[in-house]
Amino acid sequence: MGLVIATVNMKGGVGKTTLTVNLATSLAKNHQKRVLVVDLDTQISATLSLIPPQEFAKARRERRTLSHLIYQSIRPKSQSKYSIRDIIKPYICSVKQLDLLPGDIDLYDEYLVSEMLHKQAVVEGKGDFNEVWNQFEKQLIRGILEPIIDDYDFIILDCAPGYNLLTRSGIVGSDFYLLPARPEPLSIIGIQLLERRIAKLRESHGIDSPLNLRLLGIVFILSGGLIGRYYKQVMQRVTDDFSPAQLFKNRIPMDVNVAKAVDSFTPAVLATPNSSGARAFTKLSEEFLQKLEVSGNLYQADQNKVNLSNLD
Ligand SMILES: Nc1ncnc2c1ncn2[C@@H]1O[C@H](COP(=O)(O)OP(=O)(O)O)[C@@H](O)[C@H]1O
Ligand SMILES: [Mg+2]
Repeated sequence: MGLVIATVNMKGGVGKTTLTVNLATSLAKNHQKRVLVVDLDTQISATLSLIPPQEFAKARRERRTLSHLIYQSIRPKSQSKYSIRDIIKPYICSVKQLDLLPGDIDLYDEYLVSEMLHKQAVVEGKGDFNEVWNQFEKQLIRGILEPIIDDYDFIILDCAPGYNLLTRSGIVGSDFYLLPARPEPLSIIGIQLLERRIAKLRESHGIDSPLNLRLLGIVFILSGGLIGRYYKQVMQRVTDDFSPAQLFKNRIPMDVNVAKAVDSFTPAVLATPNSSGARAFTKLSEEFLQKLEVSGNLYQADQNKVNLSNLD
């Protein structure tokens, strides 16, 4: 069963996309995992970090982007001919088992969504508007991915900053989420706000099992120089607030090679594997797998508990 993992932080520019594409590439290249990157951000940074703009433009002309799958969910009777398998691009950056579901600069129309859900609630009497909305939000991204989840080991969702419908839908459809953050005071507040919002999402979408929608860990994207020294104090505050299991030990340094890799549409772990940034992402991908193994074991232990209690 493939795991869906969302990379989230309501703040922009904290390193979500960079983490998504480097982690995904490293998991496919170094660990032979089957990985799909899904670009949920209309900035299409993940898409353009992995394929050249001409290739994206062609996919867009052919209507082979995520936008068309979302449109099919909003207008189920639409005549779009492509399924998710037709839209996914395989063999990204010539890496076997690294796939991309390209994003788009237009992903959905809020008015159309509201109109459709209002019709379902009021005209078709499917329930209270809030309930209908929550049900749609819960199913939208997970429903699009459902046919291909088992084709992959990991599906990593690159979420947009802010808290729009697709970000919320991506989060509620995920098994785990990763939280990249810069160790700055406002970024720390961002972590707390996000945690609060996720708690509310759990409540409104009836996700009560602690085994669903779990924080896999906070990844610190460091800042260099003098400012870096000050930020150590800020990081201490996070260490006080979260358990060690909720933090990644490996941290990502600032490295110009990581930023420059975007020019060649190839993540740093491939373009400059020996750079300090790429090495940090490679180690982080090992820690990522270890963390999942530990949580898998916890999950197993929990299942055993359930089974034993059934014997009483
Ligand atoms: N470790 C790093 N070293 C150097 N530049 C980085 C690093 N991580 C991210 N960046 C740069 O910071 C900017 C914001 O990163 P990005 O991943 O796009 O953030 P987000 O997706 O959260 O908006 C980009 O220009 C990216 O190239
Ligand atoms: Mg981004």
